Amino acid sequence: MPDLTDSMSTLSTQDVQNPVDFYRHHIAERLSPILNKPIEDVTRILSWTQTLDKGDLMLPVAALREKGVKPPERAEELAKAFPTGDDVLVTAQPNQGFVQFFFKPADLSKRILPMILSKRQIYGANPLPGLIDPDHPEKGKKKVVVEFSSPNIAKEFHQGHLRSTIIGGFISKLYAMSGWDVVRMNYLGDWGKQYGLLANGFRQFGSQEQLAKDSIMHLFEVYVKISKIKAEQDVPINDLKKQIKENKAKGEDVSDLEKELAPLVAESEDEKARIYFKRMEDGDPEALALWKQFRDMSIEKYKRTYARLNIEFDVYSGESQVNGEEIDKVLANLKKLGLAEDSEGAVLIDFTKHGAKKLNKAIIQRKDGTPLYLTRDLAHILERWETWHFDKMIYVVADQQNEHVAQLFKATELAGHKEISDRCQHITFGMVKGMSTRKGTVKFLDDVIQHVKDVMMEVMVKNEKKYEQLDDPEATADILAITAIMVQDLMGKVRNGYEFNFERMTSFEGDTGPYLQYAHARLCSIERKAEADISSLGSADLSLLKEQHAIDLVRSLAQYPDVVANTLKTQEPSTILTYLFKMSHALSSSYDVLQVVGSEPELKKARLALYEAARQVLWNGMTLLGLTPVERM
Ligand code: ARG
Repeated sequence: MPDLTDSMSTLSTQDVQNPVDFYRHHIAERLSPILNKPIEDVTRILSWTQTLDKGDLMLPVAALREKGVKPPERAEELAKAFPTGDDVLVTAQPNQGFVQFFFKPADLSKRILPMILSKRQIYGANPLPGLIDPDHPEKGKKKVVVEFSSPNIAKEFHQGHLRSTIIGGFISKLYAMSGWDVVRMNYLGDWGKQYGLLANGFRQFGSQEQLAKDSIMHLFEVYVKISKIKAEQDVPINDLKKQIKENKAKGEDVSDLEKELAPLVAESEDEKARIYFKRMEDGDPEALALWKQFRDMSIEKYKRTYARLNIEFDVYSGESQVNGEEIDKVLANLKKLGLAEDSEGAVLIDFTKHGAKKLNKAIIQRKDGTPLYLTRDLAHILERWETWHFDKMIYVVADQQNEHVAQLFKATELAGHKEISDRCQHITFGMVKGMSTRKGTVKFLDDVIQHVKDVMMEVMVKNEKKYEQLDDPEATADILAITAIMVQDLMGKVRNGYEFNFERMTSFEGDTGPYLQYAHARLCSIERKAEADISSLGSADLSLLKEQHAIDLVRSLAQYPDVVANTLKTQEPSTILTYLFKMSHALSSSYDVLQVVGSEPELKKARLALYEAARQVLWNGMTLLGLTPVERM
């Protein structure tokens, strides 16, 4: 490795995680006497650029807040005053109200490439300096709890769960990359009367064999069957109830109708489900055993699917895990504070009376005394706090539940736990439309993946030569399909929905998942063909990288740690994706100019160092998004 120590600046490239920090400091050091401002202040004002033609860093004059200056004139003045000379590693250029700084090519590759090739997978990881509290270093890293995916057992794993899984997986990786301690939590929908219905359904139509084979699918089938029976029974019951109500209102005698209704209700699946669930609530071991089996087997199945998305949860919690005593405490506290009120036997919070007009009313206890979805969340948020004392907690939940989550945070605050609600954030996201295939609307993630996989396979077999070289074409098609789905999902702003487009996402052209995989596989192929010894690239003579294409590629690679840092602020995966696509475009336009095979050995080595660094950055970005980069496809 070339020596990176730098005698010309008070900071060396070795001191920093981010090569641009080194340049930021270098520029600020020189601007500081000109502006008569401390170096730290100037560093903060230097900002990154959207495109490299605007420089590598820039100083927006307006951000200096100097009175009575015309920004374009001041920019010119500053650029002129900025020192030049051999020891200065950047050039300054005025442009309207900005001073644009360009890293000098001669020095750049030597600073960036060895750093990437030595840091490897942690290039771009930015443990932020402020993360560990200097007054309490014993507390260690900051902690974030990320709740995501959270499907409902025996119901469909729908698009909302898919998006939550993909986005939440990314958010947790992003925080981990930034030096946080991350708790990944799955809060399953695994409790309620419907599990009584399911258990009774299973006793009628279930099979242990099917359950072992594909638990989620089988439970769903059972659930659909028993729900249909229940729905059919509901019709006459509801008709009778309606009539009784009407007759009562007219003052008529309803005893005959009631006699007719009673056996219907008693024999109904709905009533049987209620009784079964009551047994579960009362802790009846027999009733719980079947439910627990459903839960455990579903989790095993989910785990296998999550693994394909490179996701692992630290905790499988869920509605069933909420402590009953905690729920009672929450209800008692809300009543004591006058936040919860009686309403025809039920208990509700009327948010409009407590400074949150938009949040309407929410029932927290039914007439029969049972708690609701919101009540469990209210209790669980306190349990989570007790367990983790997090610095931050993120709920990744679809926008259909915006009101629910807002009510949860508000009620927590009103109940006297502002220190908890202040640390909570809702990452909300829009719907996916049109998630259907030729075979009909798909309900399960596995079906979607299978369908996309079939399409990928069709494309792959067309290239016979490449196809033959694949060790495991099935596995490659699986990865490509998942990449296609995930990239499509992560491409737009998280809060916006999008149209599921099988054709576009599987295309190898345009900004798609397969395109990114192709970019990575191509770099691997170049290295294979050149029979490169990756471990010796550190000794390459990088001053040979003189072409504009090479320089621009290095400049692009230098930006990656800043891109990650910025993504932590935007919390938008598209920030990373946009960067990766831009970088891949720069790469693909370089191949003709910066050839490896056929070049002189030293030049070949230098170019390979550049390509290997690019491959590493691509790999880092892709895995941060949860993708598995392939070496061949
Ligand atoms: N299981 C819920 C559903 O599928 C999502 C859970 C969201 N998280 C929460 N803490 N309420 O609709």
